[in-house]
Amino acid sequence: MTLTDVQPQLLENWSSLPKEEQSQLTQQIRAIDLEIFKKLQDALHEEKKLHEDYAPLKKYLTSGSDENTQVGKDLIAQGKVGCIIMAGGMGTRLHFEGSKGMFPITQFRQKSLFQYFSDRIRAASKMYQKDLPVTIMTSSLNDKQTRKFFKDHEYFGLNPEQLSFYVQGDLPFLDQQGNLFFDSQAHIAEGPDGNGELLHHFYHSGLWKRWKEQGVEYVNIILIDNPLADPFDPELVGTHKQEQCDILVKGIKREDPKEKLGVLVRIHDKVHIVEYSELPEKDMEATLSNGDLKFPCGNLSLFSVKMDFFEKIKSTDLPLHKAFKALSYLDVNGKRVKPTEPNAWKFEKFIFDIFPHGTVEVMVYPREECFSPLKRREGADSPETVMRDLQEFDRRTYHAISGLEPPSRPFELDPQFYYPTEDMRKKWEGKALPEGDYILP
Ligand code: UD1
Repeated sequence: MTLTDVQPQLLENWSSLPKEEQSQLTQQIRAIDLEIFKKLQDALHEEKKLHEDYAPLKKYLTSGSDENTQVGKDLIAQGKVGCIIMAGGMGTRLHFEGSKGMFPITQFRQKSLFQYFSDRIRAASKMYQKDLPVTIMTSSLNDKQTRKFFKDHEYFGLNPEQLSFYVQGDLPFLDQQGNLFFDSQAHIAEGPDGNGELLHHFYHSGLWKRWKEQGVEYVNIILIDNPLADPFDPELVGTHKQEQCDILVKGIKREDPKEKLGVLVRIHDKVHIVEYSELPEKDMEATLSNGDLKFPCGNLSLFSVKMDFFEKIKSTDLPLHKAFKALSYLDVNGKRVKPTEPNAWKFEKFIFDIFPHGTVEVMVYPREECFSPLKRREGADSPETVMRDLQEFDRRTYHAISGLEPPSRPFELDPQFYYPTEDMRKKWEGKALPEGDYILP
């Protein structure tokens, strides 16, 4: 039995296609695994139920340990920490044509998220006197564009040896009847498979082996859309070592019951995350008698994962999550149609579904230190709120290094201030902020 036996419509217009498109379509059909297609169809009819025993997470660590921070700094300096940046998404909700990482986000230099993170990694590499390893996970939608962007900008000063890329996978979409369909003349509609297979794709790309041989033991995983995410967070890594679990999750206290944050829960003493789209509204909004939210902790999708854990779960099958979405397609005249109503099922896997396969602890951080996501064009989590939060972050950073109150005017710090060398510390102690919008170290 082959895919075209069960989905014969895929070959209906075959004979009228130009040769090149015939061969592209053949390749795509071959790449869709029949077993996976059947799993998608099964998932359409499954009513996904949350585990009935999920309960609020009551026990978690809190950040603020100088001792653990020092342990983490030593690990990073010894080259035992790498960072994976998830950047497979496009800026759809931002109405931005392009890879989300290309979106300009800093106030004065208008640095893209990719440049901003590269600057941070370069600064951290300087402080730790080591080219810290980083890899960017792209998707079929933006892989070429992302690599070109980095190449065109000379890798933003990173050593090409320390930087790598790998591509996540795709999953086909299904129409309302559960069939595959075309989104252009000869292309079966499909899209990125979510961030759930991140560890799997990293392992099978060959990068895991390379990092392992280099001596990497811990991997910090961050999202490209949160510029306050520290690619090399010493306290997270140091605490991870002390706790000896497979995964340490960085969380924050939930404040707004409607905020689109995955919620940390426990099921029989194990940590899990329930995505905001799947947690019943009554639990998202439930409060205790003192007014606090009953489910106190939110997920940032920032994790420290042990390298050995990647190997342990390299073949583990994760559950599928489905969403009914409005997906654009080309009509018979080759014109792109953007429906306003949902028309197809999209399937994704979520990274935190690896949790049941390992030991997991949670550490809660102050929100202003680590979370300001860029999700949409206006309102909450928009360029305006992110720039405001980055400005506050820079003000606190300047205060920490100089001991002085920052002036009231806005300014942008070079990211070297986030990872100050000893020389910088000496130079900036008691030093007034110079004139200008962009402050160099
Ligand atoms: C995600 C989390 C949610 C968390 C929130 C915090 C997951 C499944 N959900 O939700 O629990 O509270 O962030 O901001 O992690 N991406 C890929 N490949 C994909 C899809 C997304 O690399 O196939 C990347 C995107 O580039 C983006 C990031 O993952 O940087 C977040 O993706 P998005 O779908 O916007 O996640 P949220 O719904 O905000």
